[in-house]
Order: sequence, then C-alpha cells, then structure tokens
Amino acid sequence: MIEQARQLIDGASAAVSFSGAGLSAESGLATFRDADGIWARYDPAVYASVRGFETDPDGVSEWYRLRRRSFASAAPNAAHWALATSNMVHVTQNIDTLLEKAGAESIVHLHGVLDRDRCHAQCGHAEHIDVSDPPALRRCPRCNAYMRPDVVWFGENLPAVEWNAAEAAIDGADLLLVVGTSGEVWPAAGLIHSAHRRDIPIVVVNADPTSVSPLATVELVGKAAELLPAILGQNPEGSSIM
Ligand code: OAD
Repeated sequence: MIEQARQLIDGASAAVSFSGAGLSAESGLATFRDADGIWARYDPAVYASVRGFETDPDGVSEWYRLRRRSFASAAPNAAHWALATSNMVHVTQNIDTLLEKAGAESIVHLHGVLDRDRCHAQCGHAEHIDVSDPPALRRCPRCNAYMRPDVVWFGENLPAVEWNAAEAAIDGADLLLVVGTSGEVWPAAGLIHSAHRRDIPIVVVNADPTSVSPLATVELVGKAAELLPAILGQNPEGSSIM
C-alpha cells in the first residue's frame, strides 16, 4: 500500500494535500473528535460559536488564551516536514501554523489561524498575536467591538479568499492527499468529495477509517508522522531516502 501511494504521488504533477487535526497529533495537539479529543471535554456550542462568545466573551477568550499557550510550545512533526518538502499546495483545516513552521510555502487556511485576532464586528482590524504571551479580552481599537481569534466558528462562513483558493487548487489537482481528518466538517470536507467527482486519485492517511475511506484510491491506516515520510520518500528528519 505504501508503494502504491508513493507511485501515485510520484506520478502527480499538481498534488494537493488536505489536512486536519490528526496531522498535528504527534506534535502534542489534541484532535477534536477522538475519544480524548477537544470536543469530548469542551462544548463546541460554547467555545466555537458566535453565541458562545457573545454570551461569555471573557470565558471564551480565556479558553483561547490557554489554547494559545499550549500551541506556543508545539513543534512540527515528521509529517509536517514531509509535506513541507513536497511541492504540493496545502489546504488545511488546522489553525496551528505548524506547516508554516516546517517551511511549507503554499498554504490555504480554511478555518483561520490562532496567531491572529480580528474584530468580531468585522470592521477590518486584525492583529498578529504572540501565542506565547496572548492578550486577554480587549476592544477593537478601530470600532470598539470585541477582538476575537481569527478562527472560523460553527455557523460562520469560511473566509472567501481561502475557500476560493482551495476550490481552485482542487479543480487543478491531479492527486489529493488527505491526512488526519475525520471529514465530518463541511464545507471543508466537500473538497474531498469534489476531488472524488473529478475522478483524480485520492490517497488517505489516517489513524482510523473514516467516512472518507470509501473515497480513497489508497488508504493507509496509521500515524501521519510515520506514514507521510515513507510515502513522500523522506526519512523523518526530512532528507530523501536513497
Ligand atoms: P477530527 O478530530 O474530527 O479528526 C481527526 C482525525 O485524525 C481522526 O479521524 C483521527 O482518527 C485522526 N488521527 C488522530 N491521530 C492521528 C495521527 N497521529 N495520524 C493520522 N491521523 C490521526 O479533526 P478535523 O477533521 O481536523 O473546526 O476536524 C475538522 C474541524 O472540526 C476542525 O478544523 C475544527 C473542528 O471543529 C473548527 O474549529 C472550525
């Protein structure tokens, strides 16, 4: 299976990766829907919704402050390094920016990033955040609404520029590599289905079979940090296998 995946990827000239929280699991960041995942411990209706934020802006901001601190010490794992040394476009649902830290260049963040705040009233003001020293709840200096993490919450639209870039990447792709996602969250998951409708090869790397499994040309079940270096032809330190 690893050899089959390698051959498909080697034969592609416009491969796209589509990733989720499983990509960063071995960097010590929890996934969402696994048994020990974030949504098993915290209610997404509170911590990932406009209503939750508007009901308790202090509490929700404090939760993101703690998450930011935990992200500050996270480093890319072998899966990020392997992706970064490929020439793929990387469409990711992850807000952790570990692909950037690994040196990947072409990244589309469908669900925003944790190292940026934006005005909740969408006046256009945004600020870079040092995740090792995140600020408490504060007001937008331009319009006095609350500032909030620049991430997408349930019920909100995905950022149009990123969504259009992701759709264009899938429309031009000749292979899709899906890594570490349950494929449960739409419209992001719809990109995998678009690729399937276009009849391009789909390689899936995930710790468990998911609802995406039937769409896979080749499915590898296991840890991304072990499998990606193998199928992308790199050892875990990022140099090529002879
Ligand atoms: P999920 O938690 O839904 O799925 C993570 C997947 O990664 C699961 O299928 C795991 O089996 C798999 N996995 C776990 N460890 C792995 C490893 N070491 N290697 C490979 N796979 C592994 O996370 P996402 O699919 O990313 O949205 O969730 C999608 C969205 O739901 C997130 O972006 C977030 C969340 O609510 C927002 O915050 C808007």
